[in-house]
Amino acid sequence: MLKIALTKGRIEQKAVELLGLCGYDTAELNDKGRKLLFTCPHPTLDELQIVLAKANDVITYVEHGTCDIGIVGRDTIMEMGGDFYELLDLGFGKCRFALAGPKGRDFHEGHRHKVIATKYPNVTKRYFAGLDMDCEIVKIDGSVELAPILGLSDAIVDIVETGSTLRENGLEVYTDIAPISARCIVNSASMKLKNDAVRDFIEALSKQIPN
Ligand code: PRP
Repeated sequence: MLKIALTKGRIEQKAVELLGLCGYDTAELNDKGRKLLFTCPHPTLDELQIVLAKANDVITYVEHGTCDIGIVGRDTIMEMGGDFYELLDLGFGKCRFALAGPKGRDFHEGHRHKVIATKYPNVTKRYFAGLDMDCEIVKIDGSVELAPILGLSDAIVDIVETGSTLRENGLEVYTDIAPISARCIVNSASMKLKNDAVRDFIEALSKQIPN
């Protein structure tokens, strides 16, 4: 049996659909109530045990070997890093990291260092280090768009999908930083000890991902 940690929320529905296309019986996941653990049988492949978890925890479970495989956004992988294999771009959950701020303002104007609010301090730190720019990073846990509106920061580094949240709050993208999509990650030990099962699973997924 393979244990899969699946990120709750945004990418969950698409991931369940993909498992269904691969021939897994996802009935338990389609009628889940408040349950967090599910079994998905398959007519020919190893059964899956699915764990629904927050994105950061998906990485923790896979790194510790509690789960063999994780389905998680590239945003979380870029922020948390870790010791695992990233094997497959699942092609959904597409969005991007961007630097954004109040509409019409020149971000680079003036000489004082900039204050950036973000849920992703590591990604932000690397981005500004790459530009050789000094900035102060303020960690925010949600609705980061509020920070420049309230005057806490000059700009934000955040995920942009449709751009509606920025638009509806008088903000705009200054620079795109990196593309994001859902990825399949594999625990290093599972890669060796359960190689056949992992390979079969990845192959089944790959066949259903449009090019
Ligand atoms: C994310 C992100 C933006 C929004 C972008 O937040 O932080 O706020 O989605 O999406 P859009 O470009 O389609 O408007 P999320 O919904 O994950 O909620 P949070 O801010 O509470 O983390």
